[in-house]
Amino acid sequence: MERKKFYITTPIYYPSGNWHIGHCYTTVICDALARFHKMLGEEVFFLTGTDEHGQKIEKEAKSRGVTPMEFINPLVAQLKDMWRLLHISYDRFIRTTDEDHVKCVQKIYQKLYESGDIYKAEYSGWYCTPCESMWTEAQLKGGKCPDCGREVTLQKEESYFFRLSKYAPRILKLYEDNPEFLQPKSRINEMVNNFLKPGLQDLCVSRTTVKWGVQLPFDKNHYAYVWIDALSNYITALGYLSGDDSLYKKFWAADLHMVGKEIVRFHAIIWPAILMALGEPVPKRVYGHGWLLIGGDKLSKSKQDKARGELTDPYELVKRYGADAVRYFLLREIPFGSDGEYTNEKLLTRINADLANDLGNLVSRTAAMIAQSFGGKLPARGNAEGADKELIALAEGAFEKVKSAMERLNVPEALSEIFAVVSRANKYIDETTPWILAKDESKKARLGAVLYNLAETERICAILLKPFLTEAPARILESLGCNAEAGFDSLAFGGLKEGTQIQKLTPIFPRIDIQKELAEVDEIVQAKTKEKAKNTKKNEEKTVNEITIDDFAKIELKVGEVTACERVENSDKLLHETVKIGDETRSIVSGIAKYYTPEEMVGKSVVVVTNLKPVKLRGVLSEGMILCAEDKDGNLALVAPEKAMASGGSVR
Ligand code: MSP
Repeated sequence: MERKKFYITTPIYYPSGNWHIGHCYTTVICDALARFHKMLGEEVFFLTGTDEHGQKIEKEAKSRGVTPMEFINPLVAQLKDMWRLLHISYDRFIRTTDEDHVKCVQKIYQKLYESGDIYKAEYSGWYCTPCESMWTEAQLKGGKCPDCGREVTLQKEESYFFRLSKYAPRILKLYEDNPEFLQPKSRINEMVNNFLKPGLQDLCVSRTTVKWGVQLPFDKNHYAYVWIDALSNYITALGYLSGDDSLYKKFWAADLHMVGKEIVRFHAIIWPAILMALGEPVPKRVYGHGWLLIGGDKLSKSKQDKARGELTDPYELVKRYGADAVRYFLLREIPFGSDGEYTNEKLLTRINADLANDLGNLVSRTAAMIAQSFGGKLPARGNAEGADKELIALAEGAFEKVKSAMERLNVPEALSEIFAVVSRANKYIDETTPWILAKDESKKARLGAVLYNLAETERICAILLKPFLTEAPARILESLGCNAEAGFDSLAFGGLKEGTQIQKLTPIFPRIDIQKELAEVDEIVQAKTKEKAKNTKKNEEKTVNEITIDDFAKIELKVGEVTACERVENSDKLLHETVKIGDETRSIVSGIAKYYTPEEMVGKSVVVVTNLKPVKLRGVLSEGMILCAEDKDGNLALVAPEKAMASGGSVR
């Protein structure tokens, strides 16, 4: 029988560095889902990667004096390292700079151009560089980007447009016919009310000013808009339009695009429209999850600097508490679909309460009692009594509940079902009081049955936990003498064989002294904040003088001719020149008396800043500034056109 397919994707990440725990959220959820579906016996393709083109990268690289690739490569390596630490089991890590991706994006553009869905026109709009998003005047909020609240710049250029407006009715129909398409449900309302109802405009999909991108095959002056380039990754990764599209045929349409809520718009409107235009099926599901917040704000790269005393660095967190603890927190703590507050205290409390206490205790108490009363050999199962039956029923029924939660993508609910069994098992220990049974030789068989039930419940929980935690389940299974590879087909209660040697484990999740740990974390955060402030200052010093072409255009520079010049009274630095600029004559005072005599100045061609606000220097009116070059010792030399130029000519 053909295996069911499951194609799941994360968004591809901007290689921004400065990774924080919020970034890990989408990918850890996808990893748990991918592992779960693999354990169901499905053929899974799990895609993640990096979104490497666009203005933001181009600018960042330039400001550091390196090529975009030199800037990106170490960041991509860091990201991959982070996924390795968190045991992310992706099948492909795609980079939008990968050759196969670039070629495919070009083919996609060509196809859309040939079908008439891409056309040329003049673009004028507001661009938010951090979001790589374009906005109309009406969409801005208080003149700023409506998504992130940052500055936007006006951009005008000849561009290619995608006929997005044409697809609005089909997108609305997609939501109507297929309410599963976009989840949670609230996101549908957001899309309909904020974007579809007000009317979709055609989308500008090429740039001439940003050259760090995919060059369009039908017009070499134009480069692909990063979002089209990025969204395409979901099909380019499968070899769409390539010589070998077997993966595409096998896995498309995606079963799930998991994305943060801020990028739902791109995935639930633009992406399906592009696919419709290509004549391809749309993804089966897009899920827009909520954010990790700090102090009520989205945890983000910039806010991380003032992360209000919280340690958010995934490398540090994994190093301190292990991948399982970080994964568990992300999967369990944030109500799915909603935002969730992140604090170190919450993380530590979760680790202690669920992992160290609930799970850890069950494992260590069971093994200790089997060691003490049965020399470490698993006793016989015995007949089930009242309390046993309840525990067994709960353990046996857990899989269906977990499956149902996972089908609804409710990962926290799935985990809470498993931990309900763990808690029930701990309660069962209190109810059956094995330490009292152990004192009475005549109760040995009953004690054996209790401990068997506990070990077996532990085994079932360990198997169920495998998609979520990547280390502890294998350790638990091995301690129970089971194969760590055990899957969902061995969930029936009673799988453990009597006489199996049960090993004691060092605590799988050592208990953390929360107050002591928080104090240590605080010191780390303070040291990091200081370090960052130092680096930011250094970077700012490097980039503080950077201006845009628009800023430069504000300065009016003209060629002038000095027609008269005299010293300014009581000053050994200043000369007062009369400068002819076209039909105009201006009075200008300059600090060049040490380098030029008034006689030398007369007749010289100079460059003048003509739109400076007039000022009086030593009582003399100065209506502009004559430009000079300055060497490192402060010596000045006039700047002049290299060939004779009539006065009044502009300098650009
Ligand atoms: N490059 C785009 C996606 C293109 S997909 C065709 C992008 N990249 S990102 O690096 O900014 O974000 C990657 C993922 O991290 C997104 O799903 C985003 O929602 C997630 N998170 C970043 N900060 C987050 C939180 N504070 N909380 C939860 N997830 C957030 O967007």
